Amino acid sequence: MITDTKRRTFLASTIATGAGLTLLPSGTLAGNGAGAKLNIALIGAYGRAAQHYKNLHTQNIVAICDVNADNMAKAAKQFPKAKQYIDWRKCLDQKDIEAVVICTPDHHHAFISIWAMNRGLHVYCEKPLGDCVMEARAVREVYLKNKNKLATQQGTQRHANPNYDRVAELVKGGAIGELKDVHAWGSRWHKETAYRPAAGPAPSTIDWEQWIGPTQMHPYNPEYFQPTRGPGSGCLQWNIYQDFGSWQVGDMGSHVMDLAWNAIDADRPTNIKADGDAPNAEVNPSAMRAIFEMPANDWRDEIRLVWYQGGPMPKSPLKALDLTKIGHGVMFKGSKGVIVSDFNNRMLIPLGKDTDMTYYKSPTPDQVAPPIGDFQQQWFNACKGDLKTCCDFDYSGRMVETLMLGLAAHQAGKELEYDAKTGTITNDPAANALLTKPYREGWVLNG
Ligand SMILES: NC(=O)c1ccc[n+]([C@@H]2O[C@H](COP(=O)([O-])OP(=O)(O)OC[C@H]3O[C@@H](n4cnc5c(N)ncnc54)[C@H](O)[C@@H]3O)[C@@H](O)[C@H]2O)c1
Repeated sequence: MITDTKRRTFLASTIATGAGLTLLPSGTLAGNGAGAKLNIALIGAYGRAAQHYKNLHTQNIVAICDVNADNMAKAAKQFPKAKQYIDWRKCLDQKDIEAVVICTPDHHHAFISIWAMNRGLHVYCEKPLGDCVMEARAVREVYLKNKNKLATQQGTQRHANPNYDRVAELVKGGAIGELKDVHAWGSRWHKETAYRPAAGPAPSTIDWEQWIGPTQMHPYNPEYFQPTRGPGSGCLQWNIYQDFGSWQVGDMGSHVMDLAWNAIDADRPTNIKADGDAPNAEVNPSAMRAIFEMPANDWRDEIRLVWYQGGPMPKSPLKALDLTKIGHGVMFKGSKGVIVSDFNNRMLIPLGKDTDMTYYKSPTPDQVAPPIGDFQQQWFNACKGDLKTCCDFDYSGRMVETLMLGLAAHQAGKELEYDAKTGTITNDPAANALLTKPYREGWVLNG
């Protein structure tokens, strides 16, 4: 049972966090730059980027960078005054840039984020922040060194749905008693088994060398990035493959786990094990279950956090409740009940003997976190003001490090013991190789 003292601690911390996130209309935040527009470089200028155009038009887009001339042309129509680049390293040298928005494939995220922060630039990076444990750690470390001057946000925009904070208030407020374990899942699957075959040279409109960037070279094949469902779906073509992404654990897993992460105040796991499809050196598993042992914190005991994708699912607490009807969801299990949530809605199911819920006091209006408002505007305001965002690279870095540990345990095929302080696996030295990725000559992560 959560004691009153513990309850007060987390409600106070919710209010404190909420106060830091108060959204003011653009330009009304106290501090320097009030009213000023940000000079932004958009790197990866089409696809997911197109879904940011409306917000980006509220700022100055001074540079656009893309390796695909057709995509560059689409972005240039939106931002005709922006200077154009193919190589993001050259783009970051442009002197008037204050901030970058990164919408490239995942295997560039950590590189561009770190290079940008090292040049004093605020960063908004699409999820996931990194493509392996080491990358997520490196991004977080560079951010922590710069957090007094830079605003960062990982692109998990669903975090601004009021449901995220309402779920957190229920869990931390003791509505299901003591938290025991948390199950998060996604339903997408794939059937690929190997990298795509060579399909001739890339057309002159695509710089394949830059598309590959730091990762291992693979022959060109247009199917790696042809979106199947419009802008923002191209990622489903390449994030299947080991060198280009992490498939669902890093993709929808970032969004779904964020719903859990916001409610459990977690650090990194101490033990990780995973099962599912047989490990494959070329593609990420479609079906996977990863189990993380999460250390206790100041308001709860140790908990078990489980991620499921591509088939495996947690057991429903009630016969009448079919969890497979919820494509992406989280279930929080406590000593007195269960909360099941998707991105927008939640249900609370009291279970066991004390279902009168007299043990639970719902928060008063002043204890409820204020609305976050528009997620990207929150970052714009933070860049110009107090630097505070809900998904900064400390919060998101720890989460993505955890998710990538799930993939490492899957590849290892055994339970891993993890020391989060040093970022090492302590029970199997050889498995540490699974936390990193080899890069091509000339590519430096912390540059
Ligand atoms: N937050 C969300 O809801 C959401 C939704 C969709 C995608 N995403 C994320 O957005 C990112 C992009 O996904 P997508 O579906 O748009 O992929 P995509 O492949 O369709 O688009 C990526 C864009 O980046 C460009 N690009 C590729 N390599 C580049 C490089 N080295 N430098 C500059 N530009 C480069 C491509 O030409 C293309 O214009 C992914 O990380 C994905 O996870 C997030």
